[in-house]
Amino acid sequence: MKINFSTAAQHLGSSAVREILKVTQGKNIISLAGGLPGEELFPMQAVRDAYNKALAADTSALQYGLTEGYLPLREQIAARLTGQGIAVSASDMILTTGSQQALDLLCKIMLDPGDSVLVEAPTYLAALQVLGSYRADIHTVKSDEHGMLPDHLEEQLRIQRPKLLYAVPTFNNPSGATWSRERREQTVELCRRYNVLILEDNPYGEITFDDAQGAYPPTLAAIDRSGEGESCVVYTGTFSKIVAPGLRTGWIIGPPELIQVITKAKQAADLHSSAIDQRALSELLHNFDLEEHIRLISREYHSRMKLLSGELASRGWEGTHFLEPRGGMFLWLTLAEHINAAKLLPYAVRQGVAFVPGEVFYSEQPHRNTMRLNFTHTPPELMQIAVQRLDEALNIYGQSAEASQPIAQAD
Ligand SMILES: Cc1ncc(COP(=O)(O)O)c(C=O)c1O
Repeated sequence: MKINFSTAAQHLGSSAVREILKVTQGKNIISLAGGLPGEELFPMQAVRDAYNKALAADTSALQYGLTEGYLPLREQIAARLTGQGIAVSASDMILTTGSQQALDLLCKIMLDPGDSVLVEAPTYLAALQVLGSYRADIHTVKSDEHGMLPDHLEEQLRIQRPKLLYAVPTFNNPSGATWSRERREQTVELCRRYNVLILEDNPYGEITFDDAQGAYPPTLAAIDRSGEGESCVVYTGTFSKIVAPGLRTGWIIGPPELIQVITKAKQAADLHSSAIDQRALSELLHNFDLEEHIRLISREYHSRMKLLSGELASRGWEGTHFLEPRGGMFLWLTLAEHINAAKLLPYAVRQGVAFVPGEVFYSEQPHRNTMRLNFTHTPPELMQIAVQRLDEALNIYGQSAEASQPIAQAD
């Protein structure tokens, strides 16, 4: 039978990262491709205890729950966020199946086909997938390592009349970049002026490599709430990177009328996210020192990032440059202009290392000589071998016919 898919389904792209992960699974390939936390750092015993406690309490962990999510957990998240400068209460929030669902639900309630959305370049691949599935008209705002360029942002706000701006301003996936305070303030101010909602996606913000007080700028949500006037920032966060992604628990906060409509959309999507996972997380927050755990994984990820960056620097590949991220899980590598990272990938996989070619993170004008490297999942003892294999791949690719073909950076 020929299946007559909807127009929306025909616009569903597949994730290049997930395709690469499939190729690398079960083989002797060191993957710097996936955005995976180091599983040896999962707080296994604390999570086991938390599930036991959740099940021991009564039967309600296995019953249907509220669409908005388990109230005590929402209160605990609200208290943590308030401590981070985002003053919210449980009623400003809905719990979601990871922040990925928050992204999807927000787009579902905001976007009609053809509506304009502004994003960074490069940006989170699965956000591009979601926006594409709702047939948004995606436009990029030029950025440098300090964030979106205010002049270009204003031009895009004026010309494209977007409904939404999507950004990962802290330890960006994929670029690792962190916006400066000034750019954050300018972005919030401009979006307010043009009446455009910002979705701030912040899964990595707590994984910090600098211990100094005041080392990092406040979130857009904190800036937004500290100012005068109507709030324009909707904020999503997740336990995926600070506890474990398998718990599939994230949250979105925003004005009450927006949360109400998201709640209706979530009812239609899945009634509510897993009750037992939410109860277990609530127990975990009660009985486990999450802040200490975050400090521990941050220290370990910092040292893995330093290992990777040291190995890359020591190779001295011509025309290659990168900035060390100040937190998060990714390092963005720019290769010499003539190298096409997507064409390099099969050579790398043959040598036993994988990465994500940077081009997949652009909705337009891809920079093909870039790649995203994850440093959190590969054990430290394999980092040097990974970069050695990348070096071999670059050498073999460099001698191939493919390498001599000119590449168009933008199309
Ligand atoms: C920028 C960004 N947003 C959202 C997500 C989704 O995370 P989750 O659904 O596991 O909370 C990810 C995951 O890698 C991400 O990198």
